Amino acid sequence: MPKKIAVLIGSLRKDSINRKLAQEMIALAPSSLEFEVAEIGDLALYNQDLDDAGTPPAPWTRFREQLAKVDGVLIVSPEYNRTMPASVKNAIDVGSRPWGKSIWNGKAIAIATASPGGVGGFGANHNIRQALVTLNGVVMPSPEAYIGNAANLLGPDGRINNDQTREVLAKFVNAFAAWTEKNT
Ligand code: FNR
Repeated sequence: MPKKIAVLIGSLRKDSINRKLAQEMIALAPSSLEFEVAEIGDLALYNQDLDDAGTPPAPWTRFREQLAKVDGVLIVSPEYNRTMPASVKNAIDVGSRPWGKSIWNGKAIAIATASPGGVGGFGANHNIRQALVTLNGVVMPSPEAYIGNAANLLGPDGRINNDQTREVLAKFVNAFAAWTEKNT
């Protein structure tokens, strides 16, 4: 049985480099993984009052139910101001509650960050790691994926334009397949 993987994309814009790279990672992955993108752009900012009152917004419930069913999560995200985008932090927060029902617990997780800049979202990558390790997520330690100079790695068709990047990302998703197999 293939392992089910939810893909979270940290950018909400339509021409997102990270979304394109996520699609490329899905295309490069082995058939032992089955992917579905879990959209996070419609998740209202986390407010515990809504959970306490038993009136969580429908997108929270949809997201929690979708994530509860998967074996692993692949997060592909830009860096905003040297940390993770608010969209990703909010998705982590929404998924972590109500108390005792966190969808992150025991989940196999891989984190890739991409930036047109040279540092490749290193800061965001480690912020995301920090939050998810605390939530008992089983975060793949290596290989790491800080994809710098990312705008130049994609052609006008939105596909990866060079063999080296294809090889690096194929290695990353294959390692994640092995990580998910071992940990779920
Ligand atoms: C950025 N960007 C950015 N890049 C980076 O490498 N480190 C950073 O700290 C930031 N900070 C930052 C803040 C905000 C609010 C924005 C909008 C952008 C640039 C960012 O990497 C670039 O816009 C990417 O193209 C965003 O990824 P997507 O949307 O193409 O996936």
